[in-house]
Amino acid sequence: VTLREKLLDGVGLLHSVHAQIEDRGYAYLTPGKDGFDHFAFLSRLGEPIPQYDGKLIWDIVPEPGMDDVYHSKNTRALVPHTEGYELAGTPPRYLGLWCVTPAEGPGGETTLADGYEFLRGFTPAQRRLMTQVRYRWHSSEGLARHGIRISSEHPLLAHGNGRLILRFSANNVTVVDDGLLPGVLEAGRGFFERHHRAITVGQGALLVWDNWRMMHSRNPFTDRRRHLRRVLLAVRGA
Ligand SMILES: [Fe+2]
Repeated sequence: VTLREKLLDGVGLLHSVHAQIEDRGYAYLTPGKDGFDHFAFLSRLGEPIPQYDGKLIWDIVPEPGMDDVYHSKNTRALVPHTEGYELAGTPPRYLGLWCVTPAEGPGGETTLADGYEFLRGFTPAQRRLMTQVRYRWHSSEGLARHGIRISSEHPLLAHGNGRLILRFSANNVTVVDDGLLPGVLEAGRGFFERHHRAITVGQGALLVWDNWRMMHSRNPFTDRRRHLRRVLLAVRGA
């Protein structure tokens, strides 16, 4: 394979990822080559954002002694959310996950549901309110145990780059009984339950989604060797 062929191959993959994301909110790739550079490929989709530990790649592996809290690095189920709801700025545009070691046995699927479809269940007046009322979002209990506490105020919906940005967390937003938020959270949980897709990211495979659009979560698993790697991407030049 020549360099030119390699580059053309990459362009084809990138085009396919954009098309899949535009169509259904996510793309699933099985590059099928040992040498595939997931990080380099994702960097062509957007600008990698530092994670909670300052690194550009977040290793998702169960940590010992963390199974009693809500945490990405344990074996328990997560609840539906969008990534980065607690961050001060615009949430990551894309989230990329690839698999180093899949979980043996049941569980461990990444689950996804279309947030834009969820929003169609609300009236224009409700959606307008969702862009206006600000709520307090905070990072997970698991991160707090590591001394990481991030919190910010945002509405559920915002606009960016001509698109809607959905923020959602079934558990890490301070609930106020304002006649809007409790209903949105309950509807979100129900919608996710009914409409999610469960995706087992195979070894070496890559799952990328539009984090402004999609809600995601995870099924519980038992194999503590499960290892995924995560990259968050911002829109370049935005
Ligand atoms: Fe997440």
